[in-house]
Amino acid sequence: MGLSSCKLQSRKQVGSSWVGNESENPFEIILNKKDRTCLRESFQRLQEPKEIVGLIFVDIVNDIEPDLRTVFGVNRAPKAAMLSMPKLGGHVARFTDLFEQITSMLGVSENLTGAWQLIRKTGRVHAKQAFLEQNFNQLEKNYFEIVLNVFEQRLIPYLTGEKEEPVPEGQAPRKVRFAQSYTPDVVTAVWKKFFAILVTQMTDAFELERTKMRNSQNQKTLAPHQHIENEVKKKKRISERQSEIEHTANSVEKGPEQLFEDPF
Ligand code: HEM
Repeated sequence: MGLSSCKLQSRKQVGSSWVGNESENPFEIILNKKDRTCLRESFQRLQEPKEIVGLIFVDIVNDIEPDLRTVFGVNRAPKAAMLSMPKLGGHVARFTDLFEQITSMLGVSENLTGAWQLIRKTGRVHAKQAFLEQNFNQLEKNYFEIVLNVFEQRLIPYLTGEKEEPVPEGQAPRKVRFAQSYTPDVVTAVWKKFFAILVTQMTDAFELERTKMRNSQNQKTLAPHQHIENEVKKKKRISERQSEIEHTANSVEKGPEQLFEDPF
């Protein structure tokens, strides 16, 4: 994938997130306009993308990465009920929405900067997930890569039209919405490039955010010595004030200075 080595040198701020120069936007460099349109059109070919994404995620948590069952709150749920669990069901919905939004930004509105920002933001937010914060390892356990590799194998056949979408029980088979105008090889190549961009960008944004979080955590753990110093200063101030009060009290106890008549 090699993109992580591509250093984002002159960074500029767009909205709240840092991205490189437009000339470095991987959605611009790696995908041409035709690729981006193909990405969008092939995704739109799916009638129920959330259904497929759901099936793939159920396979991931059951067969590929059972450690993720706890993360998605499906540890004790039977397979058939997993997608109705809020965390897994919610993630499937967000994942599908992200694909819908990104493919639209790339293939319809051509908002490539927005697409780049969105994918980096998605990488960043995952640093807040305790499981990933602790277990994500770029070289051994890159969970973005693991998940998207499964998508590469299982989603692409639906996008090329080689595999028909599953029809939920009791529903009539669906008609294909429009004829696929790209060959399966073209669709496959475009989606592989797309997934590679997602892995690289999400990983990079995740790692930067995790480092930032760890640095600020370290600062917090260094702070106690400052707390102690402050505590000492505070005690000193209190004891100074205390002795001032006692001094004043003593003077008051003595009562006001009495003036005696000069005997002489
Ligand atoms: C949230 C996508 C992988 C766990 C999200 C969100 C998106 C997303 C779009 C919502 C972000 C927001 O609120 O702004 C993706 C994509 C992945 C991926 C594209 C590609 C591989 C993972 C993995 C885990 C994970 C491997 C495993 C720990 C979560 C969790 C949330 C989340 C726990 C919190 C929100 C919720 O409860 O649904 N993800 N995700 N994600 N993701 Fe992922």
